[in-house]
Amino acid sequence: MESKRMTRRQFTGGAAKAVLAAGAIPSIAHRVAAQNPDKIRIGVVGCGGRGTGAAMDAIVSAPNVELVAMADLFPDKIEAALKRVRAAQKGGKRDFAAQYGSLQIDWDRADAVKVTPETCFSGFDAHKKILETDADLIIFGEAPGFRPRHIRAAIEAGKHVFAEKPVAVDPAGARSVFESAELAKKKGLGFMGGTQLRFSQPYGAIIGRIHEGKIGDIVAAECYWWHDYFVRWKYQERKPEWSDMEFQVRCWPHFVWLSGDHIVENLVHNIDVMNWAMGGPPKSAVALGGHINWEDWPIKGNVYDHFFVEYEYPNGAKGYASSRHIVNCAHRLGEKVMGTKGAADPFRQITGEHAYEYEGPFDNPRFIQWGKFIESIRKGSPMNCGAQVAEASMTAILGRMSAYTGRAINYEWALHQSKLDLMPPNPGFGPLPVQPLAIPGKASLV
Ligand SMILES: NC(=O)c1ccc[n+]([C@@H]2O[C@H](COP(=O)([O-])OP(=O)(O)OC[C@H]3O[C@@H](n4cnc5c(N)ncnc54)[C@H](O)[C@@H]3O)[C@@H](O)[C@H]2O)c1
Repeated sequence: MESKRMTRRQFTGGAAKAVLAAGAIPSIAHRVAAQNPDKIRIGVVGCGGRGTGAAMDAIVSAPNVELVAMADLFPDKIEAALKRVRAAQKGGKRDFAAQYGSLQIDWDRADAVKVTPETCFSGFDAHKKILETDADLIIFGEAPGFRPRHIRAAIEAGKHVFAEKPVAVDPAGARSVFESAELAKKKGLGFMGGTQLRFSQPYGAIIGRIHEGKIGDIVAAECYWWHDYFVRWKYQERKPEWSDMEFQVRCWPHFVWLSGDHIVENLVHNIDVMNWAMGGPPKSAVALGGHINWEDWPIKGNVYDHFFVEYEYPNGAKGYASSRHIVNCAHRLGEKVMGTKGAADPFRQITGEHAYEYEGPFDNPRFIQWGKFIESIRKGSPMNCGAQVAEASMTAILGRMSAYTGRAINYEWALHQSKLDLMPPNPGFGPLPVQPLAIPGKASLV
């Protein structure tokens, strides 16, 4: 029932409008380009679907933005990305979830692609080499496990950062990102995260009303991401010449050290919305989860197929977050916030004493986000959302840690005291045994 309702809304309302907006915004960017503001040069680390897509979003959302450098672990990924950005494309494929914005855009901006063979880098140090180019801003769309150290290197080198979500997969990484966000602040650098719902017009209108007290005091919130695409996401048949490392990175969602599991990789968006409504992260979490159906999963990695987390926020309100990727089950995606005077669905409406239905525009939040971010850099007061996206990532990590261990865990303890660091020492191509699936009650809390 829920699945049908959301689908109709998404495909006839938000998504359609987002696609329209996708066509409209580039022409605005072209018009403003005539005024010739400072050029912003972009480099991408992780040239897969979203890293490359984010560069295209940036170019169509603001004038005088160029893509100048690309870095990826694998040269074939750079080649494919260059092919994509050098060819005109007609958008039109709608996302399954309109609230995140279309992944497909009308694209005819090959003129903004200034990448040369000298500014393409591959290998494990590609993220460092790209920092030696004249790129002003680096987009991070690599496998999330690598992201904290890549972000730090970029900020140390004086680059603005756009980091996809999640920005970390473990507490060691989250601590590093909080430090990087601070460093960016000190250096006057921008730090934007891929939690684009923060720039969604309906979400802004409805969360704003929640903060004005329109649903009274918040007593609970819930969020969910029930789907099945993770089951085969990024699946590739293993080639005989691939090392364990190459196989795992190419199929990164299936390995906890790379993706953080789907609660961290996907549900982080919706957890971030709960944190936003609540005004900050929770104080604790207790969770459950497991992997019940391996049959449909072509890769036997070490992620769960379902999670349920109960967060407790400082005001005593509970936040219930669930994530499931099992084939042939109901789909559900979104959030709800319940208060003493009403309830809110942040993508559409408030019910209760101050009922409200969002009727404004549904422009693509990615374009709004890029437009604002680039404008802030040009104005000399770059936006820094690093702590917000690190908090969202850490909240999701906390839920996973609780589900894996079966223990109730305090947010502050996990963030400051946990020693969990999933990155293998000295990552390089070679053997890499897969850690066993966590068994609650047996996996230790570190
Ligand atoms: N904000 C959103 O709505 C949204 C949507 C889709 C994806 N994403 C995020 O974008 C990220 C990438 O997702 P994707 O779908 O583009 O994946 P992808 O597999 O298509 O791309 C990842 C790329 O990173 C490269 N890579 C991996 N490790 C690397 C390293 N150490 N150095 C350099 N390159 C490396 C891979 O080779 C690959 O080309 C994920 O974090 C995902 O959560 C966000």
